[in-house]
Amino acid sequence: MHEQLSVIGAGLMGHSIALTAAWAGLSVKVWSVDSQDISRATAGVQEKLTILESNGLVTPDERAAIAGRIAFTVSLEHCVSSATFVIEAIPEQLALKQQWYEKLDRMCGEDVVLASNTSGLSPTDIGRQATHKHRILVTHFWNPAHLIPLVEVVRGEETSNRAVERSMSLLQSMNKKPVELKKDVLGSIVNRLQYALFREAQYIAEMGVASVEDIDAAVRYSIGRRLAVTGPFMTADMGGLDVFDSISTYLFPDLSTHSGSLAQMREHVENGRYGQKNGQGFYQWTPELSQRMNQEREQELIAWLKKDKRKRSNETT
Ligand SMILES: NC(=O)c1ccc[n+]([C@@H]2O[C@H](COP(=O)([O-])OP(=O)(O)OC[C@H]3O[C@@H](n4cnc5c(N)ncnc54)[C@H](O)[C@@H]3O)[C@@H](O)[C@H]2O)c1
Repeated sequence: MHEQLSVIGAGLMGHSIALTAAWAGLSVKVWSVDSQDISRATAGVQEKLTILESNGLVTPDERAAIAGRIAFTVSLEHCVSSATFVIEAIPEQLALKQQWYEKLDRMCGEDVVLASNTSGLSPTDIGRQATHKHRILVTHFWNPAHLIPLVEVVRGEETSNRAVERSMSLLQSMNKKPVELKKDVLGSIVNRLQYALFREAQYIAEMGVASVEDIDAAVRYSIGRRLAVTGPFMTADMGGLDVFDSISTYLFPDLSTHSGSLAQMREHVENGRYGQKNGQGFYQWTPELSQRMNQEREQELIAWLKKDKRKRSNETT
Protein backbone atom coordinates (compact mmCIF):
# COMPACT_ATOMS: atom_id res chain seq x y z
CA MET A 1 0.00 0.00 0.00
CA HIS A 2 1.33 3.45 -0.87
CA GLU A 3 1.38 5.47 2.36
CA GLN A 4 0.95 9.21 2.62
CA LEU A 5 3.30 10.15 5.46
CA SER A 6 3.01 12.98 7.98
CA VAL A 7 5.43 13.67 10.82
CA ILE A 8 4.38 15.49 14.00
CA GLY A 9 7.26 17.47 15.54
CA ALA A 10 10.21 18.96 13.68
CA GLY A 11 12.95 18.65 16.30
CA LEU A 12 16.11 16.57 16.23
CA MET A 13 14.23 13.38 15.34
CA GLY A 14 11.23 14.77 13.42
CA HIS A 15 13.22 16.54 10.71
CA SER A 16 15.66 13.66 10.23
CA ILE A 17 12.81 11.13 9.97
CA ALA A 18 11.23 13.40 7.34
CA LEU A 19 14.58 13.58 5.52
CA THR A 20 14.85 9.78 5.57
CA ALA A 21 11.43 9.46 3.95
CA ALA A 22 12.10 12.16 1.34
CA TRP A 23 15.50 10.63 0.53
CA ALA A 24 13.68 7.36 -0.25
CA GLY A 25 11.34 9.20 -2.62
CA LEU A 26 8.30 9.76 -0.37
CA SER A 27 6.54 13.09 -0.03
CA VAL A 28 6.13 14.05 3.61
CA LYS A 29 4.32 16.78 5.53
CA VAL A 30 5.81 17.88 8.85
CA TRP A 31 3.91 19.70 11.58
CA SER A 32 5.81 22.02 13.86
CA VAL A 33 4.97 24.32 16.79
CA ASP A 34 6.10 27.60 15.19
CA SER A 35 8.08 29.27 12.42
CA GLN A 36 11.30 29.37 14.46
CA ASP A 37 11.14 25.61 14.90
CA ILE A 38 10.54 25.28 11.14
CA SER A 39 13.60 27.45 10.37
CA ARG A 40 15.76 25.25 12.62
CA ALA A 41 14.39 22.10 10.98
CA THR A 42 14.84 23.46 7.44
CA ALA A 43 18.45 24.37 8.26
CA GLY A 44 18.93 20.91 9.81
CA VAL A 45 17.70 19.21 6.62
CA GLN A 46 20.01 21.37 4.46
CA GLU A 47 23.06 20.70 6.69
CA LYS A 48 22.47 16.96 6.50
CA LEU A 49 21.96 17.10 2.74
CA THR A 50 25.25 18.99 2.37
CA ILE A 51 27.07 16.18 4.19
CA LEU A 52 25.26 13.49 2.16
CA GLU A 53 26.12 15.31 -1.07
CA SER A 54 29.77 15.83 -0.13
CA ASN A 55 29.98 12.09 0.54
CA GLY A 56 28.51 11.24 -2.85
CA LEU A 57 25.30 9.79 -1.39
CA VAL A 58 23.08 12.29 -3.22
CA THR A 59 23.66 14.36 -6.36
CA PRO A 60 22.92 18.12 -6.49
CA ASP A 61 19.74 17.41 -8.50
CA GLU A 62 18.61 14.73 -6.06
CA ARG A 63 19.33 17.09 -3.18
CA ALA A 64 16.90 19.70 -4.51
CA ALA A 65 14.25 17.07 -5.19
CA ILE A 66 14.61 15.58 -1.68
CA ALA A 67 14.24 18.97 0.01
CA GLY A 68 11.25 19.69 -2.26
CA ARG A 69 9.45 16.59 -1.00
CA ILE A 70 9.38 17.90 2.60
CA ALA A 71 6.58 20.37 3.37
CA PHE A 72 6.62 22.03 6.80
CA THR A 73 3.45 23.49 8.27
CA VAL A 74 2.14 24.88 11.55
CA SER A 75 -1.39 23.75 10.67
CA LEU A 76 -2.10 20.36 12.20
CA GLU A 77 -5.24 19.96 10.09
CA HIS A 78 -3.31 20.56 6.88
CA CYS A 79 -0.58 18.19 8.05
CA VAL A 80 -2.81 15.19 8.74
CA SER A 81 -5.73 15.83 6.34
CA SER A 82 -4.45 13.45 3.65
CA ALA A 83 -2.20 11.26 5.83
CA THR A 84 -2.48 7.48 5.90
CA PHE A 85 0.51 7.12 8.26
CA VAL A 86 1.55 9.53 11.02
CA ILE A 87 4.87 9.40 12.87
CA GLU A 88 4.88 11.44 16.08
CA ALA A 89 8.15 12.92 17.38
CA ILE A 90 7.11 15.42 20.07
CA PRO A 91 8.80 15.70 23.52
CA GLU A 92 9.12 12.59 25.68
CA GLN A 93 6.34 13.35 28.20
CA LEU A 94 3.66 10.71 28.68
CA ALA A 95 0.83 13.13 29.55
CA LEU A 96 1.63 15.31 26.51
CA LYS A 97 1.76 12.31 24.16
CA GLN A 98 -1.53 10.96 25.60
CA GLN A 99 -3.28 14.28 24.87
CA TRP A 100 -1.86 14.24 21.36
CA TYR A 101 -2.98 10.67 20.65
CA GLU A 102 -6.49 11.53 21.83
CA LYS A 103 -6.46 14.51 19.44
CA LEU A 104 -4.89 12.62 16.50
CA ASP A 105 -7.29 9.73 17.07
CA ARG A 106 -10.20 12.16 16.64
CA MET A 107 -8.69 13.93 13.62
CA CYS A 108 -7.51 10.90 11.61
CA GLY A 109 -9.65 8.20 10.00
CA GLU A 110 -9.63 4.79 11.72
CA ASP A 111 -7.29 3.32 9.08
CA VAL A 112 -4.55 5.87 9.64
CA VAL A 113 -1.59 4.35 11.52
CA LEU A 114 -0.37 6.47 14.46
CA ALA A 115 3.24 5.63 15.28
CA SER A 116 5.24 7.15 18.13
CA ASN A 117 8.99 7.67 18.02
CA THR A 118 9.12 7.48 21.83
CA SER A 119 12.47 6.38 23.25
CA GLY A 120 10.91 4.04 25.76
CA LEU A 121 7.32 4.84 26.67
CA SER A 122 4.77 2.08 26.22
CA PRO A 123 2.50 2.33 23.15
CA THR A 124 -0.32 0.96 25.30
CA ASP A 125 0.13 3.85 27.77
CA ILE A 126 0.53 6.43 25.03
CA GLY A 127 -2.78 5.41 23.43
CA ARG A 128 -4.66 5.08 26.73
CA GLN A 129 -7.06 7.99 25.98
CA ALA A 130 -7.63 7.10 22.30
CA THR A 131 -10.65 5.16 21.07
CA HIS A 132 -9.10 3.35 18.09
CA LYS A 133 -6.15 1.68 19.77
CA HIS A 134 -5.62 -0.94 17.05
CA ARG A 135 -3.65 1.58 14.93
CA ILE A 136 -1.32 2.87 17.66
CA LEU A 137 2.24 1.53 17.98
CA VAL A 138 5.86 2.63 18.32
CA THR A 139 8.35 3.07 15.48
CA HIS A 140 11.58 3.86 17.33
CA PHE A 141 14.16 5.44 15.06
CA TRP A 142 17.73 5.91 16.31
CA ASN A 143 19.57 9.21 16.26
CA PRO A 144 20.70 10.30 13.65
CA ALA A 145 17.58 8.85 12.04
CA HIS A 146 18.78 9.38 8.45
CA LEU A 147 22.03 7.46 9.09
CA ILE A 148 21.06 4.62 11.45
CA PRO A 149 19.07 1.89 9.69
CA LEU A 150 17.36 0.21 12.66
CA VAL A 151 13.78 1.06 13.60
CA GLU A 152 12.21 -0.92 16.44
CA VAL A 153 8.51 -1.55 15.83
CA VAL A 154 6.72 -2.10 19.13
CA ARG A 155 3.11 -3.17 19.36
CA GLY A 156 0.79 -2.18 22.19
CA GLU A 157 -1.70 -4.56 23.81
CA GLU A 158 -4.38 -3.75 21.23
CA THR A 159 -2.28 -3.03 18.13
CA SER A 160 -3.52 -4.90 15.05
CA ASN A 161 -1.31 -7.12 12.90
CA ARG A 162 -2.27 -4.95 9.94
CA ALA A 163 -0.82 -1.81 11.59
CA VAL A 164 2.43 -3.68 12.30
CA GLU A 165 2.60 -5.05 8.72
CA ARG A 166 2.02 -1.59 7.25
CA SER A 167 4.72 -0.13 9.50
CA MET A 168 7.22 -2.80 8.48
CA SER A 169 6.53 -2.27 4.81
CA LEU A 170 6.66 1.55 5.01
CA LEU A 171 9.97 1.39 6.88
CA GLN A 172 11.42 -1.04 4.34
CA SER A 173 10.41 1.34 1.58
CA MET A 174 12.34 4.06 3.49
CA ASN A 175 15.47 1.81 3.27
CA LYS A 176 15.31 1.14 7.01
CA LYS A 177 15.89 -2.12 8.84
CA PRO A 178 12.70 -2.55 10.88
CA VAL A 179 12.66 -5.15 13.65
CA GLU A 180 9.36 -6.20 15.19
CA LEU A 181 8.94 -6.65 18.94
CA LYS A 182 6.19 -9.08 19.79
CA LYS A 183 5.81 -7.61 23.28
CA ASP A 184 5.92 -4.14 24.74
CA VAL A 185 8.99 -4.25 27.03
CA LEU A 186 10.78 -1.37 28.72
CA GLY A 187 13.75 -0.19 26.62
CA SER A 188 12.82 -2.36 23.61
CA ILE A 189 15.74 -4.51 22.39
CA VAL A 190 18.65 -2.19 21.89
CA ASN A 191 18.37 0.04 24.95
CA ARG A 192 18.16 -3.08 27.13
CA LEU A 193 21.42 -4.33 25.58
CA GLN A 194 23.07 -0.91 25.51
CA TYR A 195 22.33 -0.28 29.18
CA ALA A 196 23.48 -3.75 30.24
CA LEU A 197 26.83 -2.89 28.64
CA PHE A 198 26.84 0.61 30.17
CA ARG A 199 26.16 -0.76 33.67
CA GLU A 200 28.99 -3.26 33.40
CA ALA A 201 31.36 -0.61 31.98
CA GLN A 202 30.63 1.61 35.01
CA TYR A 203 31.19 -1.37 37.32
CA ILE A 204 34.57 -2.24 35.78
CA ALA A 205 35.66 1.41 36.16
CA GLU A 206 34.39 1.58 39.74
CA MET A 207 36.30 -1.59 40.68
CA GLY A 208 39.46 0.17 39.43
CA VAL A 209 40.11 -2.47 36.78
CA ALA A 210 40.76 0.05 33.99
CA SER A 211 40.30 3.72 33.15
CA VAL A 212 37.21 5.02 31.37
CA GLU A 213 39.34 5.69 28.26
CA ASP A 214 40.76 2.15 28.26
CA ILE A 215 37.33 0.56 28.77
CA ASP A 216 36.02 2.56 25.79
CA ALA A 217 39.06 1.53 23.73
CA ALA A 218 38.66 -2.12 24.72
CA VAL A 219 35.06 -2.12 23.45
CA ARG A 220 35.74 -0.09 20.29
CA TYR A 221 38.66 -2.25 19.16
CA SER A 222 36.95 -5.61 19.82
CA ILE A 223 33.27 -6.35 20.14
CA GLY A 224 32.42 -2.86 18.82
CA ARG A 225 33.75 -3.87 15.42
CA ARG A 226 32.50 -7.43 15.49
CA LEU A 227 28.95 -6.70 16.65
CA ALA A 228 28.30 -4.67 13.51
CA VAL A 229 28.69 -7.91 11.54
CA THR A 230 27.48 -10.63 13.90
CA GLY A 231 24.94 -9.94 16.70
CA PRO A 232 25.26 -11.61 20.12
CA PHE A 233 23.67 -14.92 19.11
CA MET A 234 25.63 -15.38 15.89
CA THR A 235 28.80 -14.35 17.74
CA ALA A 236 28.11 -17.09 20.30
CA ASP A 237 27.41 -19.66 17.58
CA MET A 238 30.64 -18.77 15.82
CA GLY A 239 32.63 -18.86 19.05
CA GLY A 240 31.14 -22.20 20.12
CA LEU A 241 28.15 -22.53 22.43
CA ASP A 242 30.03 -24.92 24.75
CA VAL A 243 32.64 -22.21 25.28
CA PHE A 244 30.03 -19.46 25.79
CA ASP A 245 28.10 -21.69 28.21
CA SER A 246 31.14 -22.44 30.30
CA ILE A 247 32.11 -18.74 30.49
CA SER A 248 28.51 -17.75 31.33
CA THR A 249 28.53 -20.18 34.26
CA TYR A 250 31.41 -18.52 36.07
CA LEU A 251 30.95 -14.96 34.76
CA PHE A 252 27.21 -14.23 35.12
CA PRO A 253 27.31 -14.42 38.94
CA ASP A 254 30.16 -11.90 38.96
CA LEU A 255 28.51 -9.26 36.72
CA SER A 256 26.94 -6.08 38.07
CA THR A 257 23.34 -6.26 39.26
CA HIS A 258 23.17 -2.61 40.40
CA SER A 259 19.65 -1.20 40.08
CA GLY A 260 20.74 2.37 39.25
CA SER A 261 23.72 4.42 38.10
CA LEU A 262 27.00 3.74 39.89
CA ALA A 263 28.90 6.29 42.01
CA GLN A 264 31.01 8.04 39.34
CA MET A 265 28.05 8.53 37.02
CA ARG A 266 25.83 9.76 39.86
CA GLU A 267 28.52 12.24 40.93
CA HIS A 268 28.76 13.66 37.38
CA VAL A 269 25.01 14.11 37.12
CA GLU A 270 24.60 15.56 40.64
CA ASN A 271 27.28 18.14 39.80
CA GLY A 272 25.69 19.12 36.50
CA ARG A 273 28.34 17.44 34.34
CA TYR A 274 26.13 16.08 31.56
CA GLY A 275 28.80 15.22 28.99
CA GLN A 276 29.26 16.67 25.51
CA LYS A 277 26.24 18.98 25.82
CA ASN A 278 27.87 21.11 28.55
CA GLY A 279 31.54 20.34 28.14
CA GLN A 280 32.24 17.83 30.91
CA GLY A 281 31.32 14.27 31.77
CA PHE A 282 33.46 11.15 31.62
CA TYR A 283 35.55 13.22 29.16
CA GLN A 284 36.52 16.93 28.94
CA TRP A 285 34.59 18.03 25.85
CA THR A 286 36.67 20.80 24.28
CA PRO A 287 35.10 22.26 21.09
CA GLU A 288 37.87 20.47 19.11
CA LEU A 289 37.10 17.06 20.63
CA SER A 290 33.40 17.62 20.14
CA GLN A 291 33.79 18.51 16.47
CA ARG A 292 36.26 15.68 15.83
CA MET A 293 34.06 13.01 17.42
CA ASN A 294 30.88 14.26 15.71
CA GLN A 295 32.65 14.07 12.36
CA GLU A 296 34.31 10.72 13.05
CA ARG A 297 31.01 9.12 14.08
CA GLU A 298 29.16 10.60 11.13
CA GLN A 299 31.82 9.40 8.66
CA GLU A 300 31.68 5.85 10.05
CA LEU A 301 27.88 5.80 9.79
CA ILE A 302 28.07 7.11 6.23
CA ALA A 303 30.63 4.44 5.30
CA TRP A 304 28.19 1.81 6.59
CA LEU A 305 25.32 3.33 4.61
CA LYS A 306 27.44 3.18 1.47
CA LYS A 307 28.09 -0.51 2.14
CA ASP A 308 24.35 -1.08 2.68
CA LYS A 309 23.60 0.72 -0.59
CA ARG A 310 26.13 -1.42 -2.51
CA LYS A 311 24.66 -4.56 -0.95
CA ARG A 312 21.13 -3.54 -1.96
CA SER A 313 22.17 -2.85 -5.54
CA ASN A 314 24.11 -6.17 -5.73
CA GLU A 315 21.01 -7.99 -4.50
CA THR A 316 18.81 -6.43 -7.18
CA THR A 317 21.25 -7.08 -10.06
N1 LIG B 1 16.95 12.76 20.68
C1 LIG B 1 17.19 11.47 20.50
O1 LIG B 1 18.34 11.02 20.45
C2 LIG B 1 16.04 10.52 20.33
C3 LIG B 1 16.28 9.23 19.80
C4 LIG B 1 15.19 8.36 19.61
C5 LIG B 1 13.91 8.77 19.98
N2 LIG B 1 13.71 10.04 20.51
C6 LIG B 1 12.34 10.42 20.86
O2 LIG B 1 11.80 11.22 19.80
C7 LIG B 1 10.85 12.17 20.32
C8 LIG B 1 11.28 13.56 19.91
O3 LIG B 1 12.58 13.80 20.44
P1 LIG B 1 13.53 14.97 19.86
O4 LIG B 1 14.87 14.69 20.40
O5 LIG B 1 13.31 15.11 18.39
O6 LIG B 1 12.90 16.24 20.59
P2 LIG B 1 13.07 17.77 20.22
O7 LIG B 1 12.89 18.53 21.49
O8 LIG B 1 14.31 18.00 19.43
O9 LIG B 1 11.83 18.08 19.26
C9 LIG B 1 10.51 18.00 19.67
C10 LIG B 1 9.64 18.74 18.66
O10 LIG B 1 8.27 18.61 19.08
C11 LIG B 1 7.57 19.83 18.85
N3 LIG B 1 7.13 20.33 20.17
C12 LIG B 1 7.80 21.07 21.09
N4 LIG B 1 7.03 21.29 22.17
C13 LIG B 1 5.85 20.70 21.92
C14 LIG B 1 4.64 20.59 22.65
N5 LIG B 1 4.49 21.13 23.87
N6 LIG B 1 3.62 19.90 22.09
C15 LIG B 1 3.75 19.34 20.87
N7 LIG B 1 4.87 19.43 20.13
C16 LIG B 1 5.90 20.09 20.65
C17 LIG B 1 8.53 20.77 18.15
O11 LIG B 1 8.35 20.65 16.76
C18 LIG B 1 9.89 20.25 18.56
O12 LIG B 1 10.88 20.58 17.62
C19 LIG B 1 10.83 11.93 21.83
O13 LIG B 1 9.78 11.07 22.14
C20 LIG B 1 12.18 11.29 22.10
O14 LIG B 1 12.21 10.52 23.26
C21 LIG B 1 14.75 10.91 20.66
